[in-house]
Amino acid sequence: MKFFIDSANMPSIQKFMDMGIVDGVTTNPSLLSKEGADPAEQAAKIAKLVPGPVNIEVVASDYEGMINEGRKIAEIGSNVVVKIPMTKDGMHAVRELANRGIKTNVTLIFSAQQALIAAKAGAAYVSPFIGRLDDIGEDGMVLIRDIVKIFDNYSMESQVLAASIRHPVHVLECAKAGADVATLPPDVLEKMFMHPLTDAGIKKFLDDWDALRKKLGGNISPFKR
Ligand code: G3P
Repeated sequence: MKFFIDSANMPSIQKFMDMGIVDGVTTNPSLLSKEGADPAEQAAKIAKLVPGPVNIEVVASDYEGMINEGRKIAEIGSNVVVKIPMTKDGMHAVRELANRGIKTNVTLIFSAQQALIAAKAGAAYVSPFIGRLDDIGEDGMVLIRDIVKIFDNYSMESQVLAASIRHPVHVLECAKAGADVATLPPDVLEKMFMHPLTDAGIKKFLDDWDALRKKLGGNISPFKR
């Protein structure tokens, strides 16, 4: 499963890039606004830093506006994917942008029917939002499982990009469900590193090493030839 970072924050993206675990980035108008910088400049910095797909969303809601913005966004870099909202104008724009060889990611998907339409329109990615369904008492993971099954049934080319992820269990369940991509808020990815038994195990190893050092009366080199 590919890991995208769901953030426009350069230090957060860089930290995980340095570990080699970042396959791409997703942003949206809210995430870009949070950084307080010029969005086009911020998007260009991210697209330069991350070689994988970098998703930048249009803010226009009409077909012509989406096409114009989509073309400008695509010019930022060859790795840039244009995010389009799940609307009728959006699907028309997805088809036209696909015809022009521009990859799109249809966002704000909350039903399998929407995902099916987006895939048929030619979206490279569909983004079902898990957390926002959970927030209203539904089970967002059901949507992911339904879409993965439907896309498998018909060998749909669009990739399932699980979004609106709130905690590590969402990531686990998305991997088990076979989602192609999970886009991870940095705080969720941070939590995935942690386990109390790992911490306890490291402490035990070091305590035992210290005990040996005391027993041998001083410093010991970690390993002797
Ligand atoms: O960026 C798309 C999606 O991941 C947003 O998630 O947390 O705003 O529901 P959230």
